[in-house]
Amino acid sequence: MMQSLVIGNWKMNGSLSANEVLLDQLLPALIDLKGVQIVLCPPFPYISQADSRLLGSQILLGAQNLNAQESGAHTGEVSARMLKDLNCRYVLIGHSERRSLYGETDTDTAQKLIAAKLAGLIPVLCVGESLQERQSGSTETVVARQLQAVIDSLGIETLKGCVIAYEPVWAIGTGETATPEQAQAVHGFIRRLLARQSAAIAERLPLLYGGSVKADNAAALLAQADINGALVGGASLDAAAFAAICQAA
Ligand code: G3H
Repeated sequence: MMQSLVIGNWKMNGSLSANEVLLDQLLPALIDLKGVQIVLCPPFPYISQADSRLLGSQILLGAQNLNAQESGAHTGEVSARMLKDLNCRYVLIGHSERRSLYGETDTDTAQKLIAAKLAGLIPVLCVGESLQERQSGSTETVVARQLQAVIDSLGIETLKGCVIAYEPVWAIGTGETATPEQAQAVHGFIRRLLARQSAAIAERLPLLYGGSVKADNAAALLAQADINGALVGGASLDAAAFAAICQAA
């Protein structure tokens, strides 16, 4: 059985002092938790702060984004190698906020994913449909397009060792969670889509659900056959809520 994975995405929140308080509350609650891999993704400026606090714990670090270029004249950008240098192990790729607010395309996500892999980071490829797309019945078409864009450009083997996060955009930060059945239906679809191209990769690829995961809905979501963990936004800023989600995993 696959180990559960819970990733806390702090998004653009926090400060040196607020992070200290959060980590002070969070670490004692998580330190001895077994059977779940926990990852925290602070904003870039706070990665080293979190790293120094996570030293000696089982909790790993991740980043929320990267630039696909290796180095050079890319003002304001951060490369995969820099993240590796800062001790990051995971990186989110193609989060819906990157796609909708910063114009990231399926091609951009493929380039970022390969850059992450080449640097030795574990990419967490985020996919998911908007409310309008769900209402028009095109959830599977959209998710398949987002995944297939990466597979067609890089090959199915590239997904070996990666993580996929399904995040219905209409559930992100809205308090409206997909029901466990709705989430499982899409996770099952993703697993089958991958299995048609490589059964071995599909079987081992962790599929995370994200979108208003809270302490009170985590257990039911995580009990689904193809949900191997959670990508948590808002609730990861609340130590008690995040600890409860990790305990449910
Ligand atoms: O990366 C996390 C997701 O966007 C979910 O965010 O838990 O605040 O809905 P949320």
